[in-house]
Amino acid sequence: MKKIIALLPGDGIGEEVIQSAKQVLQTVAKQFGHSFVFPSYDIGGVAIDRHNTPLPEETIAECKGSDAVLLGAVGGPKWDQNPSHLRPEKGLLGIRKQLGLFANLRPVKGFPELLHASPLKEEVVKGSDLLIVRELTGGLYFGTPSERRDGGRSVVDTLSYERYEIERIVDKAFQSAKLRRNHLTSVDKANVLESSKLWREIVDKKAAEYPEVTVEHQLVDAAAMKLITNPTAFDVIVTENMFGDILSDEASVLTGSLGMLPSASLREDGLGLYEPVHGSAPDIAGKGVANPLATILSSALMLRHSFGLEEEALAVEEAVRVVIEQGYHTADLSISNGFIVNTTEMTSHIIEQLTSQDAMT
Ligand code: NAD
Ligand code: IPM
Ligand code: MN
Repeated sequence: MKKIIALLPGDGIGEEVIQSAKQVLQTVAKQFGHSFVFPSYDIGGVAIDRHNTPLPEETIAECKGSDAVLLGAVGGPKWDQNPSHLRPEKGLLGIRKQLGLFANLRPVKGFPELLHASPLKEEVVKGSDLLIVRELTGGLYFGTPSERRDGGRSVVDTLSYERYEIERIVDKAFQSAKLRRNHLTSVDKANVLESSKLWREIVDKKAAEYPEVTVEHQLVDAAAMKLITNPTAFDVIVTENMFGDILSDEASVLTGSLGMLPSASLREDGLGLYEPVHGSAPDIAGKGVANPLATILSSALMLRHSFGLEEEALAVEEAVRVVIEQGYHTADLSISNGFIVNTTEMTSHIIEQLTSQDAMT
């Protein structure tokens, strides 16, 4: 299979983790007889520095012309004081919107060896395996106009959704639940927000099309609490853009580190952008110690969702599982046993494992 995978490394640890995932994908290509090419384009802070925009036209056009996109992370203190149109984050929001990637799938599954890496009690975390389905191209992030008024004395951000935007993400969540354990928790703030009331109505209506899926509604404040007190009660969570952003960082605590969470940003026809949930981690950028697993696992999601290469996706996930089982982990996972490795060493272990899996078959 021949595929063009556009790389958008971005800022901070973005470049480091993208290099790791690229090497893993190159190994997969070699092992399974595929041909992947990896053109790279600018986004975020580096694009501001080089092109005076966080999202150059070339990046949009080339991503549209590729088979899938793999993104590192954007942002950093260097650009924090920029006006909003020159913020790295605007580039990320822009590419999601331009590509129509409304469905962000964020699987959260702890590895047994890392149970004690979570500050939560092992018996609470054990067995947690959930999927956050986050709406990605609407809500507060895309409200217009977002502005300061009265010489800065007042501000406006608007949360607006069209019915079809809610319907398509809710549908995606029901479909995901059908492929998992048939339970859907819709998270909203329907005791206050009009948009959440419409959200709830749409979920209830859609439920009739999926009789095998049990549906539950939770208010976002209570959901935030239950996520870390009773995480095994969740299967699929569906929620609007900002709630999903916040809950997914919280959910990373179940796995021991934000550096473990992959994600897939999809639209209906299969084109996808794959990105770790974490950011550019300016505090560790350039030190070579970033955890590459979120990005490597995102590349497995790419193999599965964009290319239909299930066996290859499973091979990557299995390699990650075995390397963790062998005790290797990066420094962000605070566990006392095992071996602390840096980004390159972790990547080499995964590649070695992928290669030896092949030798065994
Ligand atoms: P962050 O996710 O970058 O970092 C939070 C903490 O987690 C830091 O202590 C960091 O060192 C650690 N961490 C994150 N990923 C890690 C990894 N792979 N390995 C080891 N440790 C890791 O969040 P932040 O510090 O709030 O934001 C930094 C910048 O990143 C901001 O500019 C923000 O806007 C941006 N950001 C970008 C994305 C993205 O591009 N998708 C996501 C979140 C934040
Ligand atoms: C994420 C990030 C982004 C978001 C930021 C950087 C715009 O936090 O992907 O989770 O909020 O969507
Ligand atoms: Mn986030």
